[in-house]
Amino acid sequence: MKLNIIKRVAVLLLSNIFLNQPAQGQTGNLYKNASKPIEQRIADLLSKMTLEEKTGQMNQLNFSPNNADLKQKIKQGQAGSILNVVGANDVNTLQRIALEESRLGIPLIIGRDVIHGFKTIFPIPLGQAASFEPEIAESGARIAATEARESGVNWTFAPMLDISRDARWGRIAESLGEDPYLAASLGAAMVKGFQGDALSGSYSIAACLKHFFGYGAAEGGRDYNSTNIPEHLLRNVYLVPFQKSVEAGAATVMTSFNDNDGIPASANDFMLKQVLRKEWGFKGFVVSDWASVEEMVVHGFAADKKDAARLSANAGLDMEMATGLYLQYLPELVKEGKVPVSVIDDAVKNILRIKFSMGLFEHPYAVSAVPSTIYSKEHLQAARHAAVRSAVLLKNEKQVLPLNNKTKIAVIGPMANAQRDQLGTWVFDGEKEHTVTPLKALQTEYNYIQYVYEPGLRYSRDKDTSAFGSAVNAVKQADAAVVFLGEEAILSGEAHSLSDLNLIGRQSQLLAALKRAGKPVVLVIMAGRPLTILRDLPYADAVLYSFHPGTMGGSAIMDLLFGKASPSGKLPVTFVKEVGQIPMYYNHNNTGRPAPAEVTTIDQLPLEAKQSSLGYTSFYLDSGKDPLFPFGYGLSYTSFQYSDLKLSAPAIKKGEKLTIQVTLKNTGRYDGAEVVQLYIQDKVGSIVRPVKELKRFQKVELKTGESRVLKFELTCNDLAFYGKELKKKCEEGYFNIWVGGSSVTGLQASFTLE
Ligand code: GLC
Repeated sequence: MKLNIIKRVAVLLLSNIFLNQPAQGQTGNLYKNASKPIEQRIADLLSKMTLEEKTGQMNQLNFSPNNADLKQKIKQGQAGSILNVVGANDVNTLQRIALEESRLGIPLIIGRDVIHGFKTIFPIPLGQAASFEPEIAESGARIAATEARESGVNWTFAPMLDISRDARWGRIAESLGEDPYLAASLGAAMVKGFQGDALSGSYSIAACLKHFFGYGAAEGGRDYNSTNIPEHLLRNVYLVPFQKSVEAGAATVMTSFNDNDGIPASANDFMLKQVLRKEWGFKGFVVSDWASVEEMVVHGFAADKKDAARLSANAGLDMEMATGLYLQYLPELVKEGKVPVSVIDDAVKNILRIKFSMGLFEHPYAVSAVPSTIYSKEHLQAARHAAVRSAVLLKNEKQVLPLNNKTKIAVIGPMANAQRDQLGTWVFDGEKEHTVTPLKALQTEYNYIQYVYEPGLRYSRDKDTSAFGSAVNAVKQADAAVVFLGEEAILSGEAHSLSDLNLIGRQSQLLAALKRAGKPVVLVIMAGRPLTILRDLPYADAVLYSFHPGTMGGSAIMDLLFGKASPSGKLPVTFVKEVGQIPMYYNHNNTGRPAPAEVTTIDQLPLEAKQSSLGYTSFYLDSGKDPLFPFGYGLSYTSFQYSDLKLSAPAIKKGEKLTIQVTLKNTGRYDGAEVVQLYIQDKVGSIVRPVKELKRFQKVELKTGESRVLKFELTCNDLAFYGKELKKKCEEGYFNIWVGGSSVTGLQASFTLE
């Protein structure tokens, strides 16, 4: 026993001596030589670092102004990254300490949530997803990166790639919707937009894929709740956008708050090592989400903070956000032999690899562009275009829209002039004063339109109906009512889950009162999520859904209402009739008892109906089997006709490709854009397969009367999935294929994979 203690003391003393002395690496500063290969620079720098300097790089601290302790830590090489410092002056002050006052002069990486714009705010990501245009997502990210870099931010915690099938979850606003193929296409585009052609570009910022992994499946749609996603569902749905975005070159990944199947993501070594590193070849670094390491104590997965640091480091988490646990505990965990120094070295290599790739050693300081690009005409125009292309027309009876310029409109509702709320969630730096609301658009660019404005309610949660009378009178004086309803920004986003998705406050009552004035009613909804608007639809002749459209949303909505542009968005997420239908999504399994096309619902039930009279299939007695609006749905002012669906062959072998051809015609009176969607169904698999899966989409502009032949190609790789053996492969068999304008319409064909 005594010998053991002596041995342990000796090991501790010796390791203290060796690990704390500056390592006698190669002389000189090869790591500062930009002409040397990055891996050599990493090796050289690592060889010079003490254990404390290494764990310092693994530590990300939150900024607070005039924080002497923070500056001291940077000087001591105890911080690798700072988040939430904005502004060239503050950033450069901290960077200068790191470069000039610390022993090795390792620059800081400066992180910030630049989710859908920095100053110029684009539609929330769920809105951008509704455009079905990766170019829009890329452009938004590029503009956000350009503006953020001017303020010293060189790393954003975006794109958020959490597949979400639950509108109760507030962060659905930040997501790219329910479909893995759409989210993967847009997520990869955002990575390209943020990171540009090279991470070291003057206006590039490092992207961060979040939240790895499965966070959007929070039980009950309640944020931070547990998820229970089996591996095949993880690989076939939830991980698809992450893998595609890693392949697009994303620099970093952020672990999520949730425990999946009992293991918190920040300590899930299978996902962080086996999947992310070994299978996907990810070479960047992984950062924890805010305090998610420390929260493993609260989860009941770590005995204490030190244990949490040990579990995460050994699982492959490279950088710890905000709580300083790595800084505090990793040196002693290494000395105690509980965390191998190789784990530390690997983490530091990953972090340094990104810093060298970003050119931070060469260009560490924020350089303000002259003239600044912030709120530039080009940026605002791009944000307006994105908002136009993201809006979804859900209803347009009797072609109420587009409105005639001569139409006198009554502008009503709490979202008609909501400068902050129109921007949506995750807006840290955008300024509401720059928001062009619908009312502001009418007071400026659209000042030739006759209108009368009566909000009727002050904000979405308002329950004071005393101004309803003046709103109704305004409608009586006008030719039509344009009613702006929806959600304040605070009602979606992180930690903002809802169990009731009806229009909040007295908005539905206002809409019904307005309709009784007897004029056409156009309803515009600005929200961060799909709302349950079933009961509101009868009071609106037309419904335009604009997921919090950002700085230029008002101008965009006017462009659409008065026909300068035709709505072209499609739903990136299912709109349910009732919150009780959730989760309901298009790419579901068939079950053994799918409901028939027509089901008997509760209002049709005879008294004392026989037990077996309703059949035994999967649907709701009250709300039936269908959503209100399906994934991929959206109207235009014009109409489109699909014809001549042809496959290149009735069967293909695994090494062959299938070509699919279809003719699309604009059969209406307006020019317009259609999102042509291609879905497949794998009829039989080693595990049950979804009834439909989106595999291609293409947004096509057609002038009135114009036709175009469109072609798509599919190969085995597009049909492959993780089956029973959890190996990705395509399985022979029979496939259905649809091409159309939503997940429930389209021309159908079939083929066999041999
Ligand atoms: C938050 C969010 C994450 C964000 C991080 C830094 O809690 O979950 O998305 O990037 O903390 O702000």
